[in-house]
Amino acid sequence: MYSDRLRHAGLRGKLMSAAQAAEFFRDGMTVGMSGFTRAGDAKALPAALAERARGEPLRLTLLTGASLGNDSDGLMAEAGLIARRLPFQADATLRRKINDGAVMFIDQHLSETAESLRSGSLAPVDIAVIEAAAIAEDGGIVPTMAVGNSASFVQGAKQVIVELNLAAPAALEGLHDIYLPADRPERAPIPLAGPSQRIGAPRIAVDPERIAAIVVTDSPDSPSTILPPDAETAAIARHVIEFLAGEVECRRLSPRLAPLQAGIGTIANAVLHGLIDSPFSGLTMYSEVLQDSAIALIDSGQLEFASASSITLSKDMHERFLRDIERYRERIVLRPQEISNHPEIVRRLGIIALNTALEFDLYGNVNSTHVGGTHMMNGIGGSGDFARNGQLSLFVSKSVAKGGDISSVVPMVSHVDHTEHDVDVLVTEWGLADLRGLAPRERAPLIIERCAHPEYRPALRAYFAEACRRGGHTPHLLERALCWHERYRTAGSMRES
Ligand code: COA
Repeated sequence: MYSDRLRHAGLRGKLMSAAQAAEFFRDGMTVGMSGFTRAGDAKALPAALAERARGEPLRLTLLTGASLGNDSDGLMAEAGLIARRLPFQADATLRRKINDGAVMFIDQHLSETAESLRSGSLAPVDIAVIEAAAIAEDGGIVPTMAVGNSASFVQGAKQVIVELNLAAPAALEGLHDIYLPADRPERAPIPLAGPSQRIGAPRIAVDPERIAAIVVTDSPDSPSTILPPDAETAAIARHVIEFLAGEVECRRLSPRLAPLQAGIGTIANAVLHGLIDSPFSGLTMYSEVLQDSAIALIDSGQLEFASASSITLSKDMHERFLRDIERYRERIVLRPQEISNHPEIVRRLGIIALNTALEFDLYGNVNSTHVGGTHMMNGIGGSGDFARNGQLSLFVSKSVAKGGDISSVVPMVSHVDHTEHDVDVLVTEWGLADLRGLAPRERAPLIIERCAHPEYRPALRAYFAEACRRGGHTPHLLERALCWHERYRTAGSMRES
């Protein structure tokens, strides 16, 4: 049974149900689960653990790569199973629990979780739960559609539970490149000089003795929830492409650009999709997530190679990917997120980073995470890893949200994820502001006139003019800087009445 998937004969005795495997967990444990932006997540243990937590005290610290699919985060949060959660989530129920203060969420740069575990600043993982397409003869784990933090969890965990997912094709084997940096101070440079280079092993090494249980599942990843491009995201894409074409013309970029990173979500996917109609070819990606747009760009012939940590696709694109997996495997590699997002590599390769802002301010500070300055949306994810270290850091956003009641361009952001020092270019559907080499007083007029919605421009101009009269390198009216947010909270719109 499953002999091609469970190739270590001695491990067959570890096969059991999810409910049986859930009995290994104790209240207060730290658990590391596979899964990164709905891909490669454990499918059975989250539900079995939630079931246990409904009947007895069981509260865990849960670490993953990033967000989980199958409503697992919501299911576990609702059951009261999650006491602490890191480094990223994107689930409505869990978000509510975080914002109610019932779950402690540690919003981390995605490259850093593995380092925190390695250094001991996070408690070690008691049990790792890892989805696999196969277990090799030596016990090595073949991940599925994501690597995330799985290799680090396995490396440090006391026990490992493998979910062997028969719905994940065996042909995924060979897609992954598992390399983990050594402990400090002996660590050598990461020997990666290009997106397509392989520097590690195809499987996650583990002593079979540490595999406590194997649970067989048979369900695909949850499809991605991104919406198709619309008029505004198409306009954002046009501005980005025009900007990149200008960079090529000035010879600041080669016609092949530089390795591209694109963040999660509808807008970043749409911008990347826009590259299909662009003159660029011979492109590469060095990103953390590949969405539908990356597969479409491989098919259009423009994307030569893509390196990431996970592949999160819509249902149709997922089927297309699986039908032709051997071909895509030649063009894609999945790495641990510590490597896909590593500052050393991002700086070395000169990544063009494209991420989405919730809001940005007159001087180029970006809020990616906190609605109204207080309420967690998803988390910073990898945006900081790439924005801080890339050669070019672009942030895109629609100019307004909630039917125009919220302006995404505000006098002062209500929470800062990316400071003005890490932001090169801001883009909305109205235009693009290239902030490179500009002082704060030069940035503000450009951001107002190029990026803000015309309805909000007069108020922004007035704020800036009055702030300048008061003076300063970065002029502000501190007593009014956040009043747009306050007006939205109390009156339901940032518009001045
Ligand atoms: N204030 C309040 N809500 C806002 C907002 C603002 N300034 N700007 C956008 N929103 C809301 C939208 O209305 C939408 O709400 P809805 O789901 O109720 O419709 C939601 O935020 C998502 O916005 P959308 O315009 O659809 O963008 P998106 O799907 O591209 O997501 C982020 C945008 C910022 C939430 C998302 O990119 C993110 O979580 N980023 C942080 C992590 C990251 O950048 N990772 C990158 C590496 S993976």
